[in-house]
Amino acid sequence: MRNIAIFASGTGTNARKIIEFFRNDDTARVALVVSNKKDACVLDIAREHGIAALTVDRTTFFQSEALLERLRAQKIDFIVLAGFLWLIPPYLVNAFPRRMINIHPALLPAYGGKGMYGMHVHEAVKAAGDAETGITIHYVNEHYDEGDFVFQTRCPVHQDDTPADIARSVQRLEHLYFPQIIAKLVSELPTGPAI
Ligand code: GRF
Repeated sequence: MRNIAIFASGTGTNARKIIEFFRNDDTARVALVVSNKKDACVLDIAREHGIAALTVDRTTFFQSEALLERLRAQKIDFIVLAGFLWLIPPYLVNAFPRRMINIHPALLPAYGGKGMYGMHVHEAVKAAGDAETGITIHYVNEHYDEGDFVFQTRCPVHQDDTPADIARSVQRLEHLYFPQIIAKLVSELPTGPAI
């Protein structure tokens, strides 16, 4: 059984889909949810499913490697960022090479980088008048939204779509594809622990 950790800061709709997807899978499961916000809804979702949940503060995350101990203790094989807004520090990137992915709600390299998250992304797509948008799933490196791509898929942006409409179309793609892509990558992992 491979163990997945989800890092998330927000409402956790993707986390929920991923948790539910792997509940009936006998090859992998979500074993840990990590958040940087004490009151993040994603922590409630984890508790609801009996999954270990952890809040990290800025100092612990950026100025120590304490989180690695916890990830090792839970035998985490793969990390999924699902709306986690902090930049991943080098000690963590190096401990999980090609074992950590992020989902971005646009077609990178467009609309990526610091500050490009949530509705900011969809508002920028709308302002540019783009005819399509989509999702990008990519490996995580030390820069926002810059790791190698794993998967992209598109959806149309209609002329009268509001940013909220665009967000809904993109979220539909995220919920549909993210769990499947995670399952594929986890099934291809080399045997043996990450750290
Ligand atoms: C998603 O749009 C994802 O692309 C981005 O953060 C958002 C998380 O949404 N990285 P949710 O908390 O899973 O609803």
